[in-house]
Amino acid sequence: MKVYDKSHINNKEHWNKVYSSNNMNSLGWYEEIPKPSLDFISECGLDKNAVILDVGSGATTLIDGLIQQGYRNIIATDISTIALEKSKTRLSQENSELVKWIVDDITNTQNLDNTLKVDLWHDRTVLHFLTEKKQQAGYRATLKRFVKKGGYVIIAVFSLEGANKCSGLDVVNYDHKMITEFLGNDFGLIKYLNHLYITPSGSKRPYVYTLFRRENI
Ligand SMILES: C[S@@+](CC[C@H](N)C(=O)[O-])C[C@H]1O[C@@H](n2cnc3c(N)ncnc32)[C@H](O)[C@@H]1O
Repeated sequence: MKVYDKSHINNKEHWNKVYSSNNMNSLGWYEEIPKPSLDFISECGLDKNAVILDVGSGATTLIDGLIQQGYRNIIATDISTIALEKSKTRLSQENSELVKWIVDDITNTQNLDNTLKVDLWHDRTVLHFLTEKKQQAGYRATLKRFVKKGGYVIIAVFSLEGANKCSGLDVVNYDHKMITEFLGNDFGLIKYLNHLYITPSGSKRPYVYTLFRRENI
């Protein structure tokens, strides 16, 4: 994966540069098959018409997997236009038209419909990039606005044993208790998994996957 001087660019430019200068399958978070996410999603027992919001979707193969499993109400959102373009062009036109592609900053949304109600919020490695309290509060406010009562939340981030940088950026490491505390009393933890992900270059990246259900509005 290419590294470059990012000291003078903002978050959106950083991610657009990452996706335009690397092949998707060389990225340090690429998964050929996103098995932990798909396993957690199948635990939710969702209807195929359930609204699934993949936050910081990047160019993930999760979208391919969800389409293959018959889900038909998928929204892929990311701050990087280029990431979403890469996903769209990887899919067939027919499959790409099954997905809503929305460029947005999840900490301060402008383009996602404010009245959106989702059955599942899926985030693999966005929350850990939010190092400022204001960004974290913005993320949580968006999540609380969008996830319906009875809806599910999957958050996967670098665990306490994990790296403290990703893509050249600082990250906040979490365990399941910290994510539970971050979400607050309205969300009940159903399960968590410590998962060792191996990057395409062979490095070990310990993650924690968490699954919550919204119990109160
Ligand atoms: C490490 S990548 C993970 C991508 C994807 N979830 C996956 O598992 O392959 C993190 C993603 O979060 C996106 N991102 C970073 N900050 C964001 C923000 N504030 N709002 C929305 N997306 C963001 C980046 O553009 C990038 O695609």
